[in-house]
Amino acid sequence: MSCIKAAGCDPGPCKASMVQEHFKARPDDTLLATFPKCGTTWLKALAFTVTNRFDHAATSDTHPLLTRHPQDLVPFLEMPYRQLHPIADLEKLASPRLLATHMPITLLPPCVSKLGCRVVYLFRDPKDVFVSLWQFIGKVHTEYTIDRAFDSFSEGLSPYGPIWKHNLEFWKKSIAESDKVLFLKYEEMMAEPVKHVKMLAKFLGVPFTEEEVRCGVVEGVVHLCSFDKLRSMPVNSSGVTDRIGGVPMENSSYFRAGKVGDWANHLAEEMSKKLDAIVVEKLRGSGLTF
Ligand code: A3P
Repeated sequence: MSCIKAAGCDPGPCKASMVQEHFKARPDDTLLATFPKCGTTWLKALAFTVTNRFDHAATSDTHPLLTRHPQDLVPFLEMPYRQLHPIADLEKLASPRLLATHMPITLLPPCVSKLGCRVVYLFRDPKDVFVSLWQFIGKVHTEYTIDRAFDSFSEGLSPYGPIWKHNLEFWKKSIAESDKVLFLKYEEMMAEPVKHVKMLAKFLGVPFTEEEVRCGVVEGVVHLCSFDKLRSMPVNSSGVTDRIGGVPMENSSYFRAGKVGDWANHLAEEMSKKLDAIVVEKLRGSGLTF
C-alpha cells in the first residue's frame, strides 16, 4: 500500500463512486472544498463558527470548538467510508448542512452542481501544501523521505490528483459561477483574516450586521479560530483519533506550523524552483496565481 493510501489521503475509485452513488445533496448544502493540507481545519473552524454564531457566540465558554476538534465539527463527504461512519449518517444532519470534501470537481456527485450547492474553496501555495503533506504523512510513515514525496507530488501523483488540476477546476468554476463558488487563498486570509471572515459570512448567507462589526464579533471569530488558539486547546493538542479508518493520527498533527512560506525551511532551492515552474506552467493563462 502506498504511503498516501495508508495515510488515508487517497479518494480511490471506490470512495468516489460510493459518494456519487449514495450522497444526496440538498440545495442549501455548503461544501468546504480543499486539496489536503490547504487549511481545511481552519476553514472548518471558521465556517462552523460563522454559521453557528447565533447559537454559540465565539466568546462563549461552552463553544463547541473548545471541546471538539474542528475536523469533527464538519464531516467529509468521502471520509465516511469503510465501517466507521456510514455515508447515510450525513442524511441525519439537519439543514442547512456544512460539509467538507477533498474531492476534485470531476469526482463530485453531479447533484452538487445541479442543485447549486454553495462551495467554498481554499487554495494555498503548492510549496507549503507539499511540505505540510509530506510532514503529515511522515507522522505515520517515517520512511517517506522528502525526495520520494517530492517526486510524486511534482509528477501530479498526489492524493486527489495533481494539485494544479484540483486548483484550476475550482478556480474556473468560481469565475463561471461566482455566486456559487467562493475561491479563497490561505495567504490572503492569513494577511487579512477579518476581511475574509466577513466575505465568508456574506457568501454563506449570514453577513455580519453593523452592530456585530461594531461589537468586535468578527475579531472574536478570528481569534477563536486562530492557529495559536486552536492549537493550544487540549482537545487539539493531545490525544489520538482515527478519523479515516485504520490510520490513527495525533490530534495535534493538524496544527503544525501554520505559517505562510514555511516551505523555505524544508525545500532545497532547486526543488522550490522546479515546483514553481511546473505550477506556473500548468496555471498559465488561467489568471490564478500564487
Ligand atoms: P502546516 O503543516 O504548514 O503548518 P489541513 O487542515 O487541510 O489538513 O491543513 C493543515 C495545515 O493548515 C497545516 O499547515 C496546519 O498547521 C494549518 N492550520 C491548521 N489550523 C490553522 C489555523 N487555524 N490557521 C492557519 N493555519 C492552520
